[in-house]
Amino acid sequence: MTADRTSRSAQPSGAAARGFAYPRGILGRLGGHLMARGSEAASREAAGLLDVRPGDRILEVGYGPGVLIKHLAGCTPAARVTGVDPSPVMRDMAQRRCAAEIITGRADPRLGTATDTALADEAFEHVVSVNNVLFWDGIPAGLAELRRVLCPGGSLAVAFHSRTAPSRHERRIGLPEQDADRIQAAIGDVFGSVTRHDLRHLTAFTAARPQYAGPLTGG
Ligand SMILES: C[S@@+](CC[C@H](N)C(=O)[O-])C[C@H]1O[C@@H](n2cnc3c(N)ncnc32)[C@H](O)[C@@H]1O
Repeated sequence: MTADRTSRSAQPSGAAARGFAYPRGILGRLGGHLMARGSEAASREAAGLLDVRPGDRILEVGYGPGVLIKHLAGCTPAARVTGVDPSPVMRDMAQRRCAAEIITGRADPRLGTATDTALADEAFEHVVSVNNVLFWDGIPAGLAELRRVLCPGGSLAVAFHSRTAPSRHERRIGLPEQDADRIQAAIGDVFGSVTRHDLRHLTAFTAARPQYAGPLTGG
């Protein structure tokens, strides 16, 4: 059984929690600008985990200011990059950043969460989440929802700042090992198998929805 709580050590507190876990108001907008400045390298690393083929549909969970949505829509052959994030401030920032891609139908940042995407079954070839799994309202529940929206054979990538990243800021908020173990076990429970990647900026986990199309059973 996988526990459904992150360790207290990994949970941001005070201003960090307000600014980054659920960005709102002026502080949230400021946090969004800081995130955008600091997330280019991590976004490129996360994109490298996805084997995007022409016409693929991608979902990004917790897109923040929209850096990865823009990168995926502009630098891969994906047909469309949809996003869910619960923060209206982040949705507005992502809409501005991705205005050109939204007009051409290649990007679609929406309001939603990992546990409640409001998206159709089997609608995506790839789901990616960067720097937000610790904020989900239940990791197993979020993974079950993401498995539901993945088509059979579709791929999941869940990543978080690495504790060995180059910058002191990244290391300070990096994923503690006990949470890495918990996330890896939870993905294994829901997807059957999981691979860990220790990258320069990110600790990441990838998995694939099994080819058979059945829904998740057994809670
Ligand atoms: C630290 S920011 C990361 C943003 C972006 N992925 C990046 O790496 O720059 C965390 C984001 O997760 C979003 N978030 C918080 N709770 C969430 C949830 N339950 N489901 C999906 N996203 C969530 C926040 O609104 C915020 O935009």
